[in-house]
Amino acid sequence: MGLRAHSLGEQLSAIHLRIREEFPRIDRVGVALYNPKTDILKTLVHGTDEQRPLARHEIQLSRTPSLLALAESREEGVLTDLSFLDPPVRRTRETPGSGSRSSFTRPLFSGGQLAGFLFFDSGAPDFFDGPVLSRLDVFADVLSLLLLSGLEPMRRLRSAVRLAAQFTRLRDVETGMHLERVSHYAQLIARTLPSTEGLDAEFIDSLLFLAPAHDIGKVAIPDHILLKQGVLEPAEVEIMRNHVTSGVAVVEGLIRDLGLDGSSGVSMLRNIVRAHHEALDGSGYPDGLKAEDIPLEARIVAVADVFDALTSDRPYKQTWSSEEAFGFLVERKGTRFDAACVMALEGHAPEVESIRQRFRDGAAG
Ligand code: C2E
Ligand code: SIN
Ligand code: SIN
Ligand code: SIN
Ligand code: FE
Ligand code: FE
Repeated sequence: MGLRAHSLGEQLSAIHLRIREEFPRIDRVGVALYNPKTDILKTLVHGTDEQRPLARHEIQLSRTPSLLALAESREEGVLTDLSFLDPPVRRTRETPGSGSRSSFTRPLFSGGQLAGFLFFDSGAPDFFDGPVLSRLDVFADVLSLLLLSGLEPMRRLRSAVRLAAQFTRLRDVETGMHLERVSHYAQLIARTLPSTEGLDAEFIDSLLFLAPAHDIGKVAIPDHILLKQGVLEPAEVEIMRNHVTSGVAVVEGLIRDLGLDGSSGVSMLRNIVRAHHEALDGSGYPDGLKAEDIPLEARIVAVADVFDALTSDRPYKQTWSSEEAFGFLVERKGTRFDAACVMALEGHAPEVESIRQRFRDGAAG
């Protein structure tokens, strides 16, 4: 598989391994990130259960009284009701002794607002006494810093991408709706890929907000080519293809100016811009990469982008039906397009249709 940034999940499991050297009885470490707009906590829990080292789910803060109390008092605490750590389906399968677990939970704040929680969880009852807590504090500090310093660059990256996407809209290069649709098709593919790809929630979320940047390099293409009301001549195609290397330059500039290098999401952004016109058999551009050398996020965006380009109005082509566009992709699966990505999209025709309807050109946001 292609390059991927270190995800929160990978960082979490690394820290959990370190903690277990000192505290073998801490068998789960978790983080939850809070979105105040939706009241949703997205939790990611790393456990020693070999089968499922990482579990993730979403809960509503207002429905989780123990956490709400910690958030309001701004204090860390030792909790014994850990039902918020487990999705309901898992809870019913747990052994009767599991009620005696205990957890040390710390709320995290950023700019005065609740940003999330850290959890350290043990199968032993009353595990978190004074001496354990004072040692654990150090790990909690490291984890908090890691999380909170990761959040800020992520926000800046998100605004930069949104701004960049608005520039392409101003020049009428793409409609906002095209960018929205490509994002949502890409997200649909990522969500429904066979689980062997091991995609985590963070990867899927990042894809949704980074996909609109794929064609940012079109801002550097002259109007007479970009906006041509007809089929491009071969020489014009060559110029048009430069939108990929121009896009990479724009992205490198953003990363440098905003000091984002090394933060999560940045390598995904680079990969999407650089590799969204590569083809599995090496016939794509600009690098002629093959198969798994093409990062997964780029293989996903390629399928989403071509599907949307074919099913949209363009001055130089007819609008294709969804069936025709699926046919085009399926014919080229395994040679040009990633087969699993094509099948993930084609296998969800009703969802594709509802994205087309929801973000149709001319519709309000
Ligand atoms: P785009 O409109 O976002 O299209 C993305 C990709 O969808 C294209 O990448 C191509 O692989 C596929 N695609 C779009 N329309 C068609 C089509 O009618 N038939 C087929 N078989 N595939 C299609 P590609 O070719 O690298 O083009 C990159 C960009 O260049 C396009 O982005 C579009 O902005 C521009 N472009 C490509 N061909 C023409 C053209 O004939 N006339 C004009 N005015 N622009 C074009
Ligand atoms: C990760 O990338 O966070 C680990 C893979 C997984 O989500 O299972
Ligand atoms: C846009 O519609 O301008 C792009 C969408 C986004 O960046 O959120
Ligand atoms: C086009 O027909 O516009 C591009 C050629 C292709 O998609 O292979
Ligand atoms: Fe492109
Ligand atoms: Fe596009």
